[in-house]
Amino acid sequence: MDYTNILSDFKDEITTITINRPSKLNALNSATINELHDAFEAANEDHNTKVIIITGSGEKAFVAGADISEFADFSQAEGGDLAAEGQELLFDFIANLGTPVIAAVNGFALGGGLELAMAAHFRVASNNAKMGLPEVSLGVIPGYGGTQRLPQLVGKGRAMELIMTAGMIDASKALLYGLVNHVTTLEELIPFVEKIASKIMRNSPVAISAAITAINAGYQDGKNGYEMEIVEFGKCFGTEDFKEGTQAFLNKRKAVFPGR
Ligand code: COA
Repeated sequence: MDYTNILSDFKDEITTITINRPSKLNALNSATINELHDAFEAANEDHNTKVIIITGSGEKAFVAGADISEFADFSQAEGGDLAAEGQELLFDFIANLGTPVIAAVNGFALGGGLELAMAAHFRVASNNAKMGLPEVSLGVIPGYGGTQRLPQLVGKGRAMELIMTAGMIDASKALLYGLVNHVTTLEELIPFVEKIASKIMRNSPVAISAAITAINAGYQDGKNGYEMEIVEFGKCFGTEDFKEGTQAFLNKRKAVFPGR
C-alpha cells in the first residue's frame, strides 16, 4: 500500500513501519494516525510478519508529539473526541495487537510520541533519545494513554514528577526507570532490535499472541489477569503450534511452528 506520511517495509519476517515527516520531527497529525492504523492492521493480518518495528525517520526524532498545529483551536468536545479516536484507532490498537510490536526510539519521543512508544509491547532507545510528556506546558494533559501507561512502566511517583514538570529524560535515565529495555548507539538501534525480533520469531506466534492477551489483561479494568491466563493457557493446548513445540522437544529437534 502507498502511504504519504509513513513507510512500511517487509523483510525477513519483520515489518518495519517508519513515521516519515522528518521536517516536522515526525509529529502525529490525523492523516499519519490513520495511515499508522492501516499499516499496523495490514502487518498484523499478514501471516508472514512475525514482528513489527515502529521507528521514526531521520536522526533527530522518533515522534515529537501530536501535531500541535492541528488541535490548537479545538473546542472541549473536539479535544475529547481527539483523545478517544486516537486511543481506539492507534494506541490501544497497537497495545492489544497479537503481533509483537517493538518501538525503536531513535531521538525525541515526546507527548504522543512517547505514548506511541509506550503503546508498543516494549522499547529500545538510541543514546541520543529524549523522552517526556510535556503536555501540561501546553495547558493540556497526555490524552493518548500516557497518564496510564507511564505509571505502569516507571511507577506512580516518577510518572507524576515527569508529567508535572513537563521534563525530558535521556536514554540512560529511561533505562534506569524501566521505560526502555535497552540503549544502543543510533547506528546499532535497528540491527539490535532486529536481533531481538529474530529471537522472538523462533517461538510460537500463537503462544506469543496469547501471552500478550494475558499480560495486558492484568492492566485492564474489569479483567482478571490470572483468569485470562488460565483461559489463554487452555486455548494453547488446542493449537498446532503446541503439538509441534512439544513433539519437537520430545524428539530433540527444532520446532517449526505453523502459526496456528
Ligand atoms: N507538532 C507540530 N509541529 C512540530 C511538533 C509538534 N509536536 N514538534 C516539532 N514540530 C515542528 C516545528 O514546529 C518545526 O516546524 P517548522 O520548521 O515548520 O517551524 C519543526 O518541527 C522542527 O522543530 P523545531 O522546534 O524547530 O526543532 P528544535 O530542535 O528547535 O526543537 C523540540 C525540538 C522537540 C524540543 C521541539 O520541536 C518541541 O518542543 N516540540 C514540541 C514537543 C511537544 O510539546 N510535544 C507534545 C505535543 S502534545
